[in-house]
Amino acid sequence: MKKTFEFETRAIQSTHFKDKNAGAVTPPIYLSTTFERNTDGTYPHDYVYSRMGNPNRQLLEKSIVILENGGVALAFSSGMAATTALFQTLKSGDHVLMPDDAYYSSLVLAVDLFGKWGLEMTKVDMSDLTAVEKAIQKNTKIVWLETPSNPQLKISDIAEISKLAHQNGAICAVDNTWATPVFQRPLDLGADVVMHSSTKYFGGHSDVLGGALVLKEASDLTENLRQIQHLAGSVPSPFECWLTLRGIKTLSVRVERQTQNALQLATFLKNHPKIEAVHYPGLDSHPQFEIAKKQMIGGFGAMVSVQPIGDAQHAMAITGKLKLFTTATSLGGVESLIEHRKSIEGETSLTPDNLLRISVGLEHVEDLISDWQQALGQ
Ligand SMILES: Cc1ncc(COP(=O)(O)O)c(C=O)c1O
Repeated sequence: MKKTFEFETRAIQSTHFKDKNAGAVTPPIYLSTTFERNTDGTYPHDYVYSRMGNPNRQLLEKSIVILENGGVALAFSSGMAATTALFQTLKSGDHVLMPDDAYYSSLVLAVDLFGKWGLEMTKVDMSDLTAVEKAIQKNTKIVWLETPSNPQLKISDIAEISKLAHQNGAICAVDNTWATPVFQRPLDLGADVVMHSSTKYFGGHSDVLGGALVLKEASDLTENLRQIQHLAGSVPSPFECWLTLRGIKTLSVRVERQTQNALQLATFLKNHPKIEAVHYPGLDSHPQFEIAKKQMIGGFGAMVSVQPIGDAQHAMAITGKLKLFTTATSLGGVESLIEHRKSIEGETSLTPDNLLRISVGLEHVEDLISDWQQALGQ
């Protein structure tokens, strides 16, 4: 018998729960907000009050630790709540270095919300190591990566940037939402913190919001984050934890098939005469293909961005012609979604006018390709 199981086995095992009451194979949902206390002041099961902890959340956190090869995980009510908690560990005058292409709200959060509390933020092209090195400041405390990035699928070198961050006394945090731990494990590459919007591939069915932070081991930072989780209280409900755990059971099969579909769709679009550019790190034409190959494990994810030849209006008209791609924000569910990003991002967005972001789903890939064929008019 092997000593360490493969990822798929670990993922399923991580969701197991020993139900002493009924022997249930799937975990019950513990709705109780409060838990009994002993007369000596201790708690027989270590649960006190559900903002502080609950069996469903504990199981979810244990599972995410296993998926990311971490030591400690903290579950939050959304990806943004997880990012907020990490930024709340900083103090006024600290600096965060962020990518010039990243989930738009993460960038806005750093400026609009944390700017008022004295956090400094600058953006840099994280695919350019020299630029990253120059942009790190004396007061930089977090180098924030998102790779592949949203929505231009730029790739940044997690191992090299983590080294740069450490040389300068900062930590490297990676938003691993798009790659998922099936294809990328930043803690193994030297990063200090992994952030997830579990709303996306972990949940996998577009029906639950959630977020998580994962760290290598218990430390002052994990203690600080645990305190923020408990006091600020942006925690997921027991049902949300349960739904996310259910999603995790099928995470690898879903994202592997979605990724196969994405590669085929990206290849079709790249060769189409009405397409100006396709952004997908699994294409050998991608500028950081070699870095993606080095740090991603067996796949490049199921997100593809495409620029049809023409202006923003033309791109938006295409979304109306597609029958299998629902025009909606978000990603990572079993159904294919498409979105014109610039019109949803704000004025400072650097996203090209004609860029459409596609979350490739689990429909048959030939149907997806033929839908694009008819929408592009050939
Ligand atoms: C890469 C990335 N990070 C973070 C988030 C935010 O997650 P949530 O919506 O769960 O707060 C999103 C949401 O779209 C995302 O795409």
